Amino acid sequence: MKIITTKAELTAIRTNCQEQNLTIGLVPTMGALHEGHASLVRNSVKDNDVTFVSVFVNPTQFNNKEDLAKYPRTLERDAELLSSIGADYVFAPTPEEMYTKEEMNDTFKFDFGGLDQVMEGKMRPGHFNGVVQVVSRLFYLVKPYKAYFGEKDFQQLCIIHYMVERSELKNTFGKLQIVDCPIVREKSGLALSSRNERLSEEGKKIAVNISKTLFDSLQWAKTMNVEQVKEQVINTINNINGLEVEYYEIADKTTLQTTNTFSNAIGCVVVWCEGVRLIDNIQY
Ligand code: PAF
Repeated sequence: MKIITTKAELTAIRTNCQEQNLTIGLVPTMGALHEGHASLVRNSVKDNDVTFVSVFVNPTQFNNKEDLAKYPRTLERDAELLSSIGADYVFAPTPEEMYTKEEMNDTFKFDFGGLDQVMEGKMRPGHFNGVVQVVSRLFYLVKPYKAYFGEKDFQQLCIIHYMVERSELKNTFGKLQIVDCPIVREKSGLALSSRNERLSEEGKKIAVNISKTLFDSLQWAKTMNVEQVKEQVINTINNINGLEVEYYEIADKTTLQTTNTFSNAIGCVVVWCEGVRLIDNIQY
């Protein structure tokens, strides 16, 4: 496995792969890798001749400077994991290598057809502009055949599908396919996240109640309406010492707009625990 830090080297390697007609898989990440990322990489290794993994803590998608500063950076450990599961190339550029000064100031704008007006988009202004800015840049550079994303960030996944369907990427790469990968959970049910590293053992035990409540809500949905389930989820989590719900929305999986039926619905939650912002979701 080779670690690449410049766009020039990446482009040279990718061109070489294309000349040999090798299929390329891409797994974009921000590092601090865990089993959830590993599952994306394993899928890519299985499906493609060559797998590129990007490890880049993208400054333009953080609307909170403290969150950006605190984001774990563990390239050496990440590289060991990636090598052990068969990734071929790790692209780990500096922000200056990725962006010009203007781009760093997040001047990038994209039309998301309303998908970004709710939930994460509402709470983290500019977040999805930054995500699409970096993901589209990675697509242009790596020109993957398939790109892998986790369903834990469900809204991100919807927005990336939207971008690929509508942008010229669709014509440029014709076959570029976004592969949705299921949430990977600890045995306890806690959704794996790089942010879990910032939780104490006690915090992790408390945070288990987030997924537990979401799973319980599948039962509640059999007898309650959407509003009642929403209220019950929020109250149950907020009643646990150490957890505070930022939002819980039951939304249509396609439009991400609030819905009053459980058909094609997803429940998306953000909960604070020990100063860490945790995200999870459940499909009804
Ligand atoms: O999901 C993430 O880790 C990031 O948002 C992504 C897709 C790697 C873009 O920086």
